[in-house]
Amino acid sequence: MRMVDLIEKKRDGHQLSKEEITYIVTNYTNDNIPDYQISALLMAIFYQDMTDEEITDLTLAIAHSGDVIDLSSLDGIKVDKHSTGGVGDTTTLILAPLVASVGATVAKMSGRGLGYTGGTLDKLEAIPGFRIELSDEEFIRTVNESKVAVIGQSGNLAPADKKLYALRDVTATVNSIPLIASSIMSKKIAAGADAIVLDVTTGDGAFMKNIEDARRLAKTMTRIGKLAGRQTVAVISDMSEPLGEAIGNSLEVVEAIETLQGNGPEDLVEMCYALGSQMVVLAEKAASIEEAREMLKEALESGRALAKFKEMIQNQGGDSTIVDEPARLLTARYIYELPAKTTGVVTKIVANELGIAAMMLGAGRKTKEDSIDHAVGLRLNKKIGDKVETGESLLTIYSNEEDISPVIDLLYKNIEIGDTAEQPILIHDIITE
Ligand code: URA
Ligand code: CA
Repeated sequence: MRMVDLIEKKRDGHQLSKEEITYIVTNYTNDNIPDYQISALLMAIFYQDMTDEEITDLTLAIAHSGDVIDLSSLDGIKVDKHSTGGVGDTTTLILAPLVASVGATVAKMSGRGLGYTGGTLDKLEAIPGFRIELSDEEFIRTVNESKVAVIGQSGNLAPADKKLYALRDVTATVNSIPLIASSIMSKKIAAGADAIVLDVTTGDGAFMKNIEDARRLAKTMTRIGKLAGRQTVAVISDMSEPLGEAIGNSLEVVEAIETLQGNGPEDLVEMCYALGSQMVVLAEKAASIEEAREMLKEALESGRALAKFKEMIQNQGGDSTIVDEPARLLTARYIYELPAKTTGVVTKIVANELGIAAMMLGAGRKTKEDSIDHAVGLRLNKKIGDKVETGESLLTIYSNEEDISPVIDLLYKNIEIGDTAEQPILIHDIITE
């Protein structure tokens, strides 16, 4: 096989065979195909798209480019959850203990944030002592005893995706449905889950800017899941404004604790019930979504979910007393309010731009090598549809630098006040195969 012929085939809109796709992924992983040829292929895929069969073959080839985790020594149906990317998306911190507290098995591998999107591992590391690396034995024992552990993905999980993602990032080929679908599903399949709940975000803060594209991505991923023998459900959710109130690592841990205490922001709580009930049904702990939702509500209101979060922190070496004293996590040196310049109703809060503002404060990374500052970030005091008066605080800024004028300029540009606005619809659709 010659790589140049395969590029030509895709360039001209033909379907690549399983053998051809496996050849490409295997040889690229082993450094036998140069980046420039893969770049050309990625651009051809971007324009010509792929059939479901090609996307499935690509997903499985990427999944098998490294370790495929065997979770069969864990009891029960292992259920995983993945978001296609958001701002202030605190759901995993809440869902892992919440869903485990009603008996589902959550053996989760999470990632770090890049650019304006946050990562669960960074948030967990805001908890003093929390270890995101457990040995295989520790991981299995912890999940069997406690039903829950959230760890970093192993170094050799889907190595082809690491190379492809880095190349896509610099060749303007990130935003392609076949490439996003195969990237996400390959990692989920390699991480060993039996069932997968996908949160496919849409809006300014997401890869998919409109609902039609989000629906296509969701359908593509649920079909791949089914073909790979993993039950998969996708929830299409809105990410035009940030989810919940907090954006930033320690701030989101505090938000997770408050939510598990029953005092969470309405949209974040609803998102957790929507995703969590799908997880509980896939894990066969409830017969219907309604029943699952009742179970989750009970676990939250009784404090069982919060106790599970404490247990999870303890199991992974963290200081669980922060659950009782979350204010200890808020160590930023400067706290500023952002006053509204006019009276009216908040009509727009652009999620990705607020994510960038949090990153500028130090909450996120511009490049993979950057270190992050757990203490900094934003807390929204107003959301779309809220009334506001001149001088009232739109949001609170937590910073370790005194001069944050570029951040303030960016925030004012991306929060609009007008006459009327409806609260955005949070869940647009639920896709099951
Ligand atoms: N998240 C991923 O893991 N891969 C993509 O391509 C996009 C989002
Ligand atoms: Ca949040």
